[in-house]
Formats: sequence, C-alpha cells, structure tokens
Amino acid sequence: MEEKQRFKRTTVTSALPYANGPVHIGHLAGVYVPADIYVRYLRLKQEEVVFIGGSDEHGVPITIRAKKEGVTPQDIVDRYHELIKKSFEEFGISFDIYSRTTSKTHHDTASDFFRKLYDKGEFIEKSSMQYYDEEAKTFLADRYITGECPHCHAEGAYGDQCEKCGTSLSPTELINPKSAISGSQPVMRETKHWYLPLDKYEPWLRQWILDEHKEWRPNVYGQCKSWLDMGLQPRAVSRDLDWGIPVPVAGADGKVLYVWFDAPIGYISNTKELCAREPERFGAWETWWKDPETRLVHFIGKDNIVFHCIVFPTMLKADGSYILPDNVPANEFLNLEGDKISTSRNWAVWLHEYLQEFPGKQDVLRYVLTANAPETKDNDFTWKDFQARNNNELVAVYGNFVNRALQLTQKYFAGTVPAAAELTDYDRETLHEFADVKGEVEKLLDNFKFRDAQKEAMNLARIGNKYLADTEPWKLAKSDMTRVATILNIALQLAANLSIAFEPFLPFSSRRLRTMLNMSSFDWEQLGSTDLLPAGHRLGTPELLFEKIDDVVIEAQVQKLLDTKRTNEAAAYRANPIRPTIEFDDFTKLDIRVGTVLACSKVPKADKLLQFEIADGLENRTIVSGIAHYYQPEELVGKQVCFIANLAPRKLKGIVSEGMILSAENADGSLSVVTTLSEVKPGSEVK
Ligand code: MF3
Ligand code: ZN
Repeated sequence: MEEKQRFKRTTVTSALPYANGPVHIGHLAGVYVPADIYVRYLRLKQEEVVFIGGSDEHGVPITIRAKKEGVTPQDIVDRYHELIKKSFEEFGISFDIYSRTTSKTHHDTASDFFRKLYDKGEFIEKSSMQYYDEEAKTFLADRYITGECPHCHAEGAYGDQCEKCGTSLSPTELINPKSAISGSQPVMRETKHWYLPLDKYEPWLRQWILDEHKEWRPNVYGQCKSWLDMGLQPRAVSRDLDWGIPVPVAGADGKVLYVWFDAPIGYISNTKELCAREPERFGAWETWWKDPETRLVHFIGKDNIVFHCIVFPTMLKADGSYILPDNVPANEFLNLEGDKISTSRNWAVWLHEYLQEFPGKQDVLRYVLTANAPETKDNDFTWKDFQARNNNELVAVYGNFVNRALQLTQKYFAGTVPAAAELTDYDRETLHEFADVKGEVEKLLDNFKFRDAQKEAMNLARIGNKYLADTEPWKLAKSDMTRVATILNIALQLAANLSIAFEPFLPFSSRRLRTMLNMSSFDWEQLGSTDLLPAGHRLGTPELLFEKIDDVVIEAQVQKLLDTKRTNEAAAYRANPIRPTIEFDDFTKLDIRVGTVLACSKVPKADKLLQFEIADGLENRTIVSGIAHYYQPEELVGKQVCFIANLAPRKLKGIVSEGMILSAENADGSLSVVTTLSEVKPGSEVK
C-alpha cells in the first residue's frame, strides 16, 4: 500500500478487440466495464489518468474472413472498427482515445519498436520448415491449413487447434493437410523468422512477477507461474503473410510482424496519437509510458494473460526505456445461459442488438455485468438474473429510495431542501453507517474488486431505503413537520451521495440523478458528506431512475437464444448429412458386440482418454476411448457398452487399443456411450 504513493498518474489500457466481429457482453464484462469503472473513479478523485483503447486490426482470422466474403481485410476492419467504437461509446466506456492498429502512427511506432530491438541484437533469426502452398505461392499460417485431427480424427481441424476435441496442434501433426486457400496439398519449404528469446528473460521474469508481484490476482499470478515453470521458448515475432506491418529490415519480403507483437504496441501508438491531438491536456506521450512515476495497468481477459504478463513486458524490457505494468487485473470468462459465449455459433448478447432492444438501459447491463463479474471464476449471465437484479435491486432499492426522497420533498417542501433540526440517535447512526462507505469502496476499487465495490455502493441505497421505511415521514406530516424536514434533509444528502458513489458504475443514472437534484459540483472527496445539498437548495424535477422489466421482455430474449440453439443444431445436422447408401454385405463386415466394463481408468498425460478392460465373452480386451471429458472412470465400471470387435488394433499413448467403444455425439461435441436397454451376455452381437 505504501508503494502506491510512488505513483503520480495512471495509464490504463484495455485489450484491443479484434475488428472482425461485433463486441458482446463477454467483452464488456471482462474488460471494458471494469476498466471504465476504474478510470471514472480515478478521474473523480482528480487523479491524472489516461484511458487507451482501440481496435486490433491485423492477424490471420481477419484475412480469412475477408477471403470468405470476397472483400479486402481493410473492408472488414473498417466495418467492425466503426461498429465496435460506437457500441463502446453508447455504453459510456469513456476512452480518451479509441484508435486502430491500421493507423499510420501505429505502423510507424510498431516498425520503430521492432527496428530498435533488431538493432540492439535482441532477436534470434532462425529458419524452419513450414507449409507452403505452391498454387497460391504463399506460406500458410497455421489457421490456413486444415486436415484430419490426429487425436479425434475429426475432419477440418486447423493447423493450430482441433475445434472438435480442443487439442492444440501444430500443422505438421495434421493428417492429410490441405491449404485452406487453394485446397491443394501444401509442401514443406524453408522460411526465416525473427524470434524474441523469452528464455533469456526467464530469470528476470521469475523475479519480477513471482517475487515482486505477489499481489496480482491469484488467477493471473497462477497462470504466469505455470508458464514460467514449464520453461519459456523463443517466440517468433514475424509471419509470412500479406496483411500486417511489414518487417522493417532488408530481406524480409512477404513478412509482417506477428499480430501479437504489434497489437500491444498499439497502446503506445494510441497514446501518441492522443497526445498529438490534445497536447495541452495530456502532455508528452512519454510521460505515460516512460516516467517511473506513472502506473501502468492492463485490463484484459484471461486468454490474454501470457501476452500481457510475459511477452509484452519482455518487449518493453528489451527496449529498456519503458515502464512495466504494475498490475494486470485479468478476468475469467462470462458464460451465457450456461454455455460458452461463441461468435461462430452466434451464442452471445451483442451490444449493438442490446442497445436496440433495450434503449436507454445501458446502466442496467453495466450493473448486472459488474454484479456478476467473472473476477475470480467463470460466471454465468442469465436473462432471469438480469431481470431480477433490475427489478429487485435497481428499481426496488436504488430507484425506489431516490424517488421517495424526491417525491416527498416535492410534496411537503415544494421541491426545496428543508433544513435539518435536531438529530435523533437513529439519524446519527444512519449517517455514521454511510460515512464508512467511502473508505470501503476505495479499498475495494484500489484492489480491482469491482463487484464488491458496487455492492457497497448499493448498500448505501439500502441504508437510505431502510431509513425512510423506519422513520415513515409520510405519517409524521400531520403532527411534526420539523421532524419531516430533518428526515428528508438526511434522505436527500444520502441521495446526493449515491450520485457520487455510483458515478463510476452507472454513469448515465448518476448524471440523471444529479439533474434531479440540481447538483452542480460533485467529486469523490465529498462522498460521505452530510451537507452536499444546503437547506433552501432548489431541486430539479423528479423522474423514475429505473423501470421494471416485464416477464414478456425477458421471455422474448430467452426465446431468441432458444432459436439460436435450434438453428445451430439444424446447421450441425446439415453439416453432418447421412452418408451414401451401402449394401448389407458392407454392414456385416462390422463386428459390433456388447461387453461389460471390468475396469476403467484415466490414461496418464492424455486428458481425453480412458482405458477400459472389457469382458467380451471370450477373453478380456483393452480398449482406449476418448471420452474422459464426459465420464468419471468409476461410473462406467459394471456398465455394458457396444464396441467394434474386429477393428485392427491401434496404439494410443503407448497402449494397444483392441477395438472401439461406440458413443453418440451431441451437436456440441459431447459424447454419450451407447448401451443396451436390458443386460445381455458379454460378447452378444449387435446386428
Ligand atoms: N485482439 C486481442 C483479443 O481480442 C487482444 C489484443 S490486446 C493487445 O484477444 F494487447 F494486443 F492489444
Ligand atoms: Zn480432434
């Protein structure tokens, strides 16, 4: 905590989203809302801060998308950059700049960055064999090669990953590789690339992260530790590709900087652009990146941890003139109604659609996403919870309190703040309770605990609600107007405090509340004060801060997701049509039998495989099956399974598998073992 005094200002970055699709609630919850809360909080404290955002516009997926649509990569990024930028604006994500990595400033900055490391001799140059498409005359990025997965044997696995079974692959592991560009069979050809020797920086990284940043979130620290414990390898920072920033040295024709090399430099480029645009306000860009009194904080999702905690810091360190991140508060993932959010399966709540369907309700989504922020573990967004939090918290607690305080003042004091007379013990207790809120919220925000911080702010509204319910000023109006005046004075001070406390979280509602209270000045230091609104101050017109969301609205959203699910299932079925007709003789070649599972265990070092001992009626046999994700070994012992008994034996992870257990595959790839309706003798034929 003492350390914090060292810093004079803060540079806040949020991951640059890929400009190849719109942004959804997962992006907002994981990165942009927390970053925005943090920045608004610092601004409210009058601290010097800059908030940097932008689109990440390079990389292979953008080129694939362009090719599919028959347009240029530039067309793709132009389209999505604008859409994403607008969504963020509408949600009140208060970037000081939202630029893009296709800007001239960025191209120059990233080139210069590479060039400096190159001149310092920081890179290793290495040739390796890579797949080359002779028809298209181009090297193939891993994503551009497809083939059969060596593990689950699904077709259409990519050179970097099989999406069916989730295994990460290298392109040379694919069976029957094909170029995704021409469809031809690629050949191996030698190519040269530049590598950042992470291994050389490993001792330094260990000390810097593991010793000096023990305060990082456990999920971040843990992921770094496991990367470091596995041992770091040099990483290629260039690619053979025609979309990106050309490698700025001789003999690098056809090569561009790897997208993960240039993208984080985008934070620096965008700061430069901002400082050039508004020099009087932001000064020199170097102040934000090179002054040790500047604190650098990266907001990201968990899939970006290695790049922001290991690779980018190594780049900055290798340059030598930059500060390093002080914290990287990465979030886990947000799921949607129990399933992983997926752009390709359209399983998401898209921000631009939400804005159309819930106009003016940006704060409701901000609130719900923060209340469910995946700070320590993956979390789930459900429409039911969205409705409940709106109706039971925003409307029933925050909105209700503010509305009662304002309406009663309107009614009894014609909209003018009444003077407080003598306070009762209960009044004092109430004021005392909310005097603590400021310290609490600060402590939580300083430690990136946004969800708890918002809960504290909501607690302030609960205090106010309870205060009015307990004191019942509407009942005293006939007998004791002095007491009513005191109660409403206190309630109005509380409402004014709420507009400050909620400003980082719910900026739109805070602004509306300030208008209703006719409050001009507000800053964080005033939080906890009991005289924000002087007696005699004229209030504005009361309005409802939040409104109830009806069941029909929620049901429509749920229905929309069900429709998506149905569409996906139909598409999966179409993608997997019935195969060509065969003759009966072909069928009889397959010897399918029923066996009883005698033993079942996990195969070491293979997270998908289970090893079975099967009683097959003759002798027992061993079968290895890739269903470990769907069953605990114990639950299968004693069960009967169907298996192909005459399949040629195959070796899997060193174990000879004598046959194949049959499973049915769901649309999402999950597997269910096929069994018989009633028990049969082991070895019975299936026909
Ligand atoms: N585009 C990347 C993603 O969406 C994030 C890039 S962050 C930056 O995962 F550091 F590279 F900018
Ligand atoms: Zn696979």
